[in-house]
Amino acid sequence: MTAEIISGTQVAADIRQELAQEVKELKAKGVTPGLAVVLVGEDPASISYVTAKAKGAEEVGVHEETFRLPADSTEDAVLKKVAELNQDPRFHGILVQLPLPKDMDEKKLTYTILPEKDVDAFHPVNVGKLLIGEPDFLPCTPHGVMQLLTRSGNDPSGKYLVIVGRSNIVGKPLMAMMVQKAKGANATVTVVHTGTADMAHYVKEADIVIAAAGRPNMVTAEMVKDGAVVIDVGVNRIPDDTKKSGFRLVGDVDFEAVKEKAKAITPVPGGVGPMTVTMLLVNTVRAAARTAGS
Ligand code: GUN
Repeated sequence: MTAEIISGTQVAADIRQELAQEVKELKAKGVTPGLAVVLVGEDPASISYVTAKAKGAEEVGVHEETFRLPADSTEDAVLKKVAELNQDPRFHGILVQLPLPKDMDEKKLTYTILPEKDVDAFHPVNVGKLLIGEPDFLPCTPHGVMQLLTRSGNDPSGKYLVIVGRSNIVGKPLMAMMVQKAKGANATVTVVHTGTADMAHYVKEADIVIAAAGRPNMVTAEMVKDGAVVIDVGVNRIPDDTKKSGFRLVGDVDFEAVKEKAKAITPVPGGVGPMTVTMLLVNTVRAAARTAGS
């Protein structure tokens, strides 16, 4: 079997088109959705993510501003900026791009964002609401994974879904989402991680594999069941002299081999990546809609 390639670029474009329409309707009611991005320092990957967020916002009509602070800013200066944005009615969503410079307390900064403006859904209030099945915001990358599954006709309901990786940004929130008795979820979920004795044992049984370990080629063809659906969340930079940048992006899945066994698979790039930014815009528009009372 050669897998169907699930194009995140295409699914993201479809969702952005729907969002642009919602934004138009909100603007007609006098509300322009606004997103504030705080970037501290000059980390090249962070700059490229922030640029993608600004571009996506422009595409759907969301007002976006990036607040750039120097790498040697004090933690107080960043806290002050976030506090200011909390009170600024132009912005319905705020995010502080991670990672922050080493000497800063990431938790303290992200927890300062008001939960109702926390479009990353990193605040403990939003994490807790997600776990009890009453989310105000779905976290962006896990929500992107959910949309890729449902919109490609691979609804997780009743399926055995194995998540590889237990990060706070992907593995754990995805576990909390997929286990809910809710649309686009209702799966039987196992999370495997570096402490799992025999990872392959679980992955081999999975109807749906979500790879989010941050390690190239972690998921091999031998580990995947015939006809499984494989979503690759990994974004790994590996050196490549043939590229102008000196690197290329690969996921966590051995794509070439696994696509010969899977029913459907996402590529890297062009899979989960474009979805993350899109779901951030979805959250920003939801936050704005709440202030518009719709
Ligand atoms: N850095 C890498 N991914 C993310 C994300 O989803 N949100 C923020 N704020 N920073 C990130």
